[in-house]
Amino acid sequence: MTARLVVLVSGSGSNLQALIDASRDPDYGARVVAVGADRGGIRGLKRAEDAGVPAFTCRVRDHPDRDAWDAALTDLVAAHEPDLIVSAGFLKLCGPRFLDAFGGRYINTHNSLLPAFPGMDAPAEALAAGVKVAGATLFVCDAGVDTGPIIAQTAVPVEDDDTVETLTERIKTAERAQLVDAVGRMVREGWTVEGRRVRLG
Ligand code: GRF
Repeated sequence: MTARLVVLVSGSGSNLQALIDASRDPDYGARVVAVGADRGGIRGLKRAEDAGVPAFTCRVRDHPDRDAWDAALTDLVAAHEPDLIVSAGFLKLCGPRFLDAFGGRYINTHNSLLPAFPGMDAPAEALAAGVKVAGATLFVCDAGVDTGPIIAQTAVPVEDDDTVETLTERIKTAERAQLVDAVGRMVREGWTVEGRRVRLG
């Protein structure tokens, strides 16, 4: 059975694109059945449209408060009956209702080697800290900011002449490959979460 993925985006959607491209192979084991966004006018939504994938936008400011937004997003995602939900550059922390509905199968890709550099500016913080190795982490979301159990990590070197832009792009290239590989393994082989430890297969 082909697993149903819902991908949440806020920006360029290159990780989304990698999943869409991978799922053209029927052996991949998953397909993107919907794309959700927290804002309009982003490239991620255009990528969904170009691929013929249904998309929805759920903006915080269209709801009376954060809880109402959380409930609305939960319902919009649930309507697509996802097996796995992927936050790929989605710049929102989902609330308790969302986590109750999808806990354990809501995952996020982040552009640092967690637990180093959680939050929005990881490549810049890695450069400022002078680390020699950076990378990306795929993890199971919990209520914290980039704190959930780690599924996979991939490392890239930090070069002497890197700028935030060059390091960000090097991380993203490795991040996309990791996301495609790990999501494929998760849907084909299954996964378990025991405390902090995630096991594939
Ligand atoms: C990724 O590097 C992700 O880790 C970070 O934002 C980037 C999203 O890129 N939070 P894209 O929208 O998938 O191109």
